[in-house]
Amino acid sequence: MRVSVVGLGYVGLVTSACLAEQGHDVVGIEVSSARIEALLDGRMPFHEPGLAELVQANREVGRLTFTADPAAISQADVVFVAVGTHDGNGGWQTRTIQSCLNDIVPRLADDAALVVRSTLPPWFLAHLPIIVGRMRQEAGLGEVPVLLNPEFTKEGTAVQDFLEPERVVLGIAHDVDGRGAARLRRLYRGMSAPILEMSATDAALSKLGANLFLATKISFANELAQLCDQYGGNVDQVVAAMAYDHRIGGAFLRAGIGFGGSCLPHQVTMTVATAAESGMPTPLFAAVAEVNHRQRERMIDRLAELLGGSVAGARIALLGVTFKPDTDDLRDAPSIHIATRLIEEGATVVAFDPMTDALERFAALVPGVRVASSVDVALDDADAAALVTEWGVFRQLDWVDAASRMRRAIMVDGRNALSVVELVDAGFAYASFGRGIRGQTDVPATAPLVATVDTGATGAPTSYETLAIDTHATEGSPAERHRSGSSGLDLALTD
Ligand code: UGA
Repeated sequence: MRVSVVGLGYVGLVTSACLAEQGHDVVGIEVSSARIEALLDGRMPFHEPGLAELVQANREVGRLTFTADPAAISQADVVFVAVGTHDGNGGWQTRTIQSCLNDIVPRLADDAALVVRSTLPPWFLAHLPIIVGRMRQEAGLGEVPVLLNPEFTKEGTAVQDFLEPERVVLGIAHDVDGRGAARLRRLYRGMSAPILEMSATDAALSKLGANLFLATKISFANELAQLCDQYGGNVDQVVAAMAYDHRIGGAFLRAGIGFGGSCLPHQVTMTVATAAESGMPTPLFAAVAEVNHRQRERMIDRLAELLGGSVAGARIALLGVTFKPDTDDLRDAPSIHIATRLIEEGATVVAFDPMTDALERFAALVPGVRVASSVDVALDDADAAALVTEWGVFRQLDWVDAASRMRRAIMVDGRNALSVVELVDAGFAYASFGRGIRGQTDVPATAPLVATVDTGATGAPTSYETLAIDTHATEGSPAERHRSGSSGLDLALTD
């Protein structure tokens, strides 16, 4: 089929390349001439594994072309709209999509289907078919089907997520004779996933609901991790046991500094804000946002705790700046808040990320931050390291060498991604979230530790350690000991 995709950001470019890969003739349209030039030049506007190869291969066989000219859509059977709806301030904006519709709706062929892939604010859904209908009428043209086709891809695995989806959702905003839905079913007939047809509102809420649930799981895991720290538990073991219950599952329950990116934080905050405005508060989602924000602050607290009470004057190696591995995206990345706060508190922050371009943009976003040319340079003479993004390059570090480079071997693992045993064996004082504080430190652990499992980097149990406990010192409740800042325990690692 002939497809046009308007807006070549993460969603639009992945959609264009993947539909071309599936054999469709795709024209990608973008208002930014700089982006078009880059794409025509073979340069990707962002990092997404596998995407550059797909774009190149499909351009070579002529199935994928790029242009800044919206007139190109007049040939298309299906026109996707994939422009931004984020106002950059935690809210929605519909200016971009309205101006995009202005450009394209009068140019659509009479038998084309208009498909919105952008994530839309729920209140805009009722307006969408009316706006499109009016534009067609004013242009003296017949009506066109209007559908929603929300995307569920994740940055870092977007290509695979698109080509092997778990479901395809079609939301009907206006499709009197069903020809729009039929066309989309034909477009996706190569997919083995179920195609779910529903109203546009249900489709938009399915997308929002999925993201709200994922965010809730992460904040739940973070609250659970806090309980684990308070009572001396290990969140890895607790989650692993919970995950055997198929109603719960184990995915998206990794504790740490919380969720970032352009989707989860924004969709949680804007849901809370718009619900409050309409007089229907959403306390659960408000708490999800609050817990998420708190986790970023906890990273500062953990570092201060291990550094003897304050980060002032300390040199901190910030390992990773992107909001997750396998992307160069800094949107709402926890690293920005963490680095800014550390600098405010008087620390020197030396950041490294394998995405050099992201590191440069990070330096522009965080005044006063220093960037390092390698992870070794970041670690040299550091008083502490803070793992913010669990890139493979950090997980595979030689920790004995890392410890020898640092002034003090202190690690706060913001992603629960490193092996407790490995770090402690290398001489680190190591803290994460819901796994206690281990190793040599003059700062006492926050809670008594009874037994731990090292889940390694993969989450699967790899080795076990036993802690010998001096029970003479265990006076007071765990909460009291936590408040007084003392574990009340002498801990010694044994085989
Ligand atoms: C998210 C959803 O996962 C996708 O399904 C959705 O299509 C997409 O938003 C979207 O709306 O477009 P994405 O923003 O790429 O995808 O990132 P996620 O993989 O969801 O990760 C979000 C954040 O949560 C990251 O900072 C990650 O480190 C964090 N996270 C994830 C945790 O802290 N713990 C976990 O257990 C999992």
